[in-house]
Amino acid sequence: MIGRAWAAIFARAGWNVRIIDPHAPTLSAAPDLIRDELRSLAKHGLAEDPDGAAARVSVASDLADALKDVEFVQENGPEKIDDKIALFAEMDRLAAPDTILASSTSAIVASRFTENLNGRARCLVGHPVNPPHLVPLVELCGAPWTSPKSISRAREIYRTIGQVPVTVNKEINGFVLNRLQGALLAEAFRLVGEGYISAEDLDHTVKDGLGLRWSFLGPFETIELNAPGGIPDYCARYTGFYKELAAASAGPEVYQSPNVDHVIKAWPHLPTPERVEKLTIRRNERLAALVAHKAKQSD
Ligand SMILES: NC(=O)c1ccc[n+]([C@@H]2O[C@H](COP(=O)([O-])OP(=O)(O)OC[C@H]3O[C@@H](n4cnc5c(N)ncnc54)[C@H](O)[C@@H]3O)[C@@H](O)[C@H]2O)c1
Repeated sequence: MIGRAWAAIFARAGWNVRIIDPHAPTLSAAPDLIRDELRSLAKHGLAEDPDGAAARVSVASDLADALKDVEFVQENGPEKIDDKIALFAEMDRLAAPDTILASSTSAIVASRFTENLNGRARCLVGHPVNPPHLVPLVELCGAPWTSPKSISRAREIYRTIGQVPVTVNKEINGFVLNRLQGALLAEAFRLVGEGYISAEDLDHTVKDGLGLRWSFLGPFETIELNAPGGIPDYCARYTGFYKELAAASAGPEVYQSPNVDHVIKAWPHLPTPERVEKLTIRRNERLAALVAHKAKQSD
């Protein structure tokens, strides 16, 4: 899933892309699915020449063929430490010494799968957000031995292909995006599980409240505008209240029984394949329209 999206993103930006996957049916289906994705991006003005871009994606015969003379690798294998270790060992052996090796891993820091590699200075995490062709953020996070040059080159490459790279300066569990998401989700589980609000009204609180601002303002930009004297004034006025909340923040028990059972019961829909498919299409269509809107803004 994520590998196909990256192929579409790089090809859309003019790169020649070679893809590889040990599962033959997945690999043979990928070029058509990538072309379809590029065509639906084009409908929203997010890809200029979808068929031309799709033609830049080719299927490699094996890993060595995939890595021949490439400048940049985006690894999207399974989220399992043993697979990442094996894949990076192979890639480090086969790729030219100055090829950047980036992993899409959601939650495994690079030091866990690159420590023993000769080329460990060119390895890093480039964590995308699903779906990456519609949500441009990429979290870059190197191991302690990743060279600053590799990070800055990767950052520049992601920027020029239309993504928005951010650098996580040192390894931390969950990087940054999932830590922020986790903080919100834990509180949502607590509030719904303990009956303070319905699950659907909680979702409204985000999509019709906080989330509207968040599509163009971060939390610091938000609080800068929430007090006349900016962030120092905000801190003086409101951090007493937030300290109280932080002292009693949701703990791991919100994901355990009985709270998690209350949350599951609070959601009035069944995840039928039809519902999931309909909502996925809606998500992608609305995200594409939002991204197209944001692309028209000058700042
Ligand atoms: N799905 C998400 O929301 C999301 C978001 C951000 C990052 N990621 C990360 O992206 C990576 C891929 O996730 P996905 O959701 O696309 O999973 P996926 O299961 O759709 O894809 C994994 C692919 O890896 C292939 N594979 C298995 N062994 C391999 C090997 N040795 N070499 C190369 N390929 C191999 C599989 O055949 C499969 O096609 C994971 O590390 C995941 O954590 C996922």
